Amino acid sequence: MGNTNKRTVAIVGQGYVGLPLAMAAVDAGWNVIGIDNSESKVSLINSGISPVEDISDSVLNSALGSNLYTATKDFSLIANAEVVTICVPTPLDQERKPDLLLLRNAVEELAPFIANETLIVSESTSYPGTLRQEILPIVEKLKPRGASVIYYASAPERVNPADPVWNQKNTPRLVAGINEESRIKALEFYYSISDAVVPVTSPEVAEAAKLLENTFRLVNIALVNEFAQICNTNNINVNEVIDAASTKPYGYMTFRPGVGVGGHCIPVDPLYLTWWAQQSGNTYSLIDSADKINRQMPKYVAELALSSISADTKSPKVLVLGVAYKSGLGDVRETPASELVDHLRSLGAIVAWHDPLVRNWRTENSVEINWACDVAILVTRHPEMQIDDLIQRGVRILDCTNTIHNQAQVDYL
Ligand SMILES: NC(=O)c1ccc[n+]([C@@H]2O[C@H](COP(=O)([O-])OP(=O)(O)OC[C@H]3O[C@@H](n4cnc5c(N)ncnc54)[C@H](O)[C@@H]3O)[C@@H](O)[C@H]2O)c1
Repeated sequence: MGNTNKRTVAIVGQGYVGLPLAMAAVDAGWNVIGIDNSESKVSLINSGISPVEDISDSVLNSALGSNLYTATKDFSLIANAEVVTICVPTPLDQERKPDLLLLRNAVEELAPFIANETLIVSESTSYPGTLRQEILPIVEKLKPRGASVIYYASAPERVNPADPVWNQKNTPRLVAGINEESRIKALEFYYSISDAVVPVTSPEVAEAAKLLENTFRLVNIALVNEFAQICNTNNINVNEVIDAASTKPYGYMTFRPGVGVGGHCIPVDPLYLTWWAQQSGNTYSLIDSADKINRQMPKYVAELALSSISADTKSPKVLVLGVAYKSGLGDVRETPASELVDHLRSLGAIVAWHDPLVRNWRTENSVEINWACDVAILVTRHPEMQIDDLIQRGVRILDCTNTIHNQAQVDYL
C-alpha cells in the first residue's frame, strides 16, 4: 500500500479523532496507515463507509482510492511510519477514575514495531504526565533494539464533532515535545496538516490546557443548569435571562441549560483533572460540585416533565426526543438521556424514545415521532427531527434545547 515517494504516518485509533486526522494527513500528502483493533471498524472503513459523521463516505472513498490510505488491524505496519499518533479512548473506570487501559494496550501493541527516529505523538486526552510517565516508559521498554532514538510529543486533539465551522484543520493545535528534537519534529508534522500550530513549552502544559478547556465548559454548564433551577422556582424564563446577559459585549460567554452533559469529553476530562489534582494530597471542590449538578439534571428534568401531567394520569407516557448527546451526531456515549429514561421509569412512566440518528440503543429501538404520549421531552434536537409535526398535533413538550419558540403547549427548562 501507499506511495513510496511519500512520508508515512500511522494513526492508532480510527474513531472521531483518528479518522478525521487520517483524512487531513492524506490531504496534506502523507501516506496514512489507519490502525484500529476493531475488526468491524476496519472492514467498514475499507469498504468505504465512514463510521464518523464529520467524514463523508465520498471523502473516505477518495482517500482509499488515492492509495494513500488504508485501515488495518496490523500493528507491524508501524515499522514503515516516521510519525505515529495515538488517538484511542481515555474513559473513566467504574469508580469514575482515569482508565488508561486502552491507551496502555495501544502503546504496548505499537512499541515493538517502531523504527529508529520515529516520532510518537499522543492526541488522546489525559492528565499531565501521561506522555512522560505512562507512554514513554512502555515504548522505551518494548521498542526494538535498533530503535535507539525515539521522539515524543503531545498534541491534544480539540475537534468538536458536527461543528460546521471549526474542524481538525482550522482549529489551532497545541504542540509540545519532550525535548527540542521532538518539538521540532512534532511542529513539522502539525504544520503540514493544520492551519495554526501553537507551540507550548512542555507536554504537561499541553495536556493540562486540554483539561482546562473542557473543565471550563463543564463548570459553566453546571452554572447555567443550577441557574435554570433558580429561575424556574421564581417563574423567570432562564433563556430570556441568558439572551439578555449575552448582549454584554465582553466578559461573558453564553452557555445554555440542558439535560446534562454527554460524550467522551465534557463529562470525562474534568475528572482526569480532579484525579490528577488529588495526587498531590490536596482537595479541591469546584469541579466535583459542577459534576454533581450536571449529573442530577436528568432527575430534575424527569420530575419537571411529569409535573406537567395531570396527577390523575396513571403510568404517564413520555416520549424522549434525541438520545444522542449532541445535535447532528449519533453518538450516545455518556448521554444524559440514559439517566433521564431511568428516572422517568423509576417514577412510573412508560417511556419510548425517538432519534433519527440512533436506531438501536440499550437494546431498544427508536419509535416513530408520532408515538402517542402525554408529554415529549426534547433532549437533543437533530436537524432531521420532525418537531413541527408534534407542535401541530398539540403535543405537550418540555424543550430542554431552547430551540422551540412561542408555542403555547411548550414548557422550557
Ligand atoms: N470525540 C471527540 O469529540 C474528542 C475530541 C477531542 C479529544 N478526544 C479524545 O481523543 C481520544 C479518542 O477519542 P475518540 O472520540 O476518537 O474515540 P473513538 O471511540 O471514536 O475512537 C477510538 C478508536 O480507537 C480504537 N481503539 C481502542 N483501543 C485500541 C487499541 N488498543 N489499538 C488500536 N485501536 C484501538 C477503537 O476501536 C476506536 O475505533 C480520547 O482520548 C478522547 O478523549 C475526543
